[in-house]
Amino acid sequence: MDKSRASWPWPWRSLSSCKLEACLSRGSKSERWSFRELTNHFACCRVVSEDTVGLVDRCTAEIRTLSYLLHPPLLDEVGLGSAISWYVGGFSERSGIIVDLDVPKNMPRFSSELDTALFRIVQQSLANIHKHSGSKRAHIRLAIAGSNLVVEVSDEGRGISPAILSRFRESGRSPGVGISGMRERVVGLGGTFELKSDHCGTTIVVSVPITGQP
Ligand SMILES: Nc1ncnc2c1ncn2[C@@H]1O[C@H](COP(=O)(O)OP(=O)(O)O)[C@@H](O)[C@H]1O
Ligand SMILES: [Mg+2]
Repeated sequence: MDKSRASWPWPWRSLSSCKLEACLSRGSKSERWSFRELTNHFACCRVVSEDTVGLVDRCTAEIRTLSYLLHPPLLDEVGLGSAISWYVGGFSERSGIIVDLDVPKNMPRFSSELDTALFRIVQQSLANIHKHSGSKRAHIRLAIAGSNLVVEVSDEGRGISPAILSRFRESGRSPGVGISGMRERVVGLGGTFELKSDHCGTTIVVSVPITGQP
């Protein structure tokens, strides 16, 4: 195998090897492919293999995104602040949204229940920012205030429509399960959930008691 061929991507290498073997092993001389035929077939192989590589890359990215969403990796090992920081890195890369993250140094460890709930709230808020706000920036702030952990997530986007906002204020319900689900999680933890929104952006502020954690 020549040097340049060794640097080809692997599916192309294996596909081209198969094709070459197929060409060379054809019966009589008249049945063997000409150089032109060979290059035509190789060109086809290249297109197929490039498509395949692209598909594999897209599948890998999708699987990574799904695994981020389904299970908060690292949460048990490194704690909430570091897990959020890791997630935000991937989110910014995928969405192009710049996220300012403010996590206090030496944050205490919390229970697994609290970690998971707050990680999900940050995920859901960022998903909403990406999906609905049109904002190019997001801000996340974690702080300890007395015996509470406060998490604030905001954007600089178009804001939630007044109709959706007043429906949420009156009934605690939102059109999807995102905002109402976040609120239910927080209430379940004995905390408070605040939603502020206008044409300059949206902010959610969650405050949950940490006494006795973990
Ligand atoms: N950050 C945001 N900026 C603008 N609009 C938002 C934002 N978050 C939520 N919304 C609006 O509130 C609605 C309800 O959000 P949510 O309950 O998460 O449901 P879903 O995201 O499935 O629509 C969204 O459909 C959208 O109209
Ligand atoms: Mg949502």
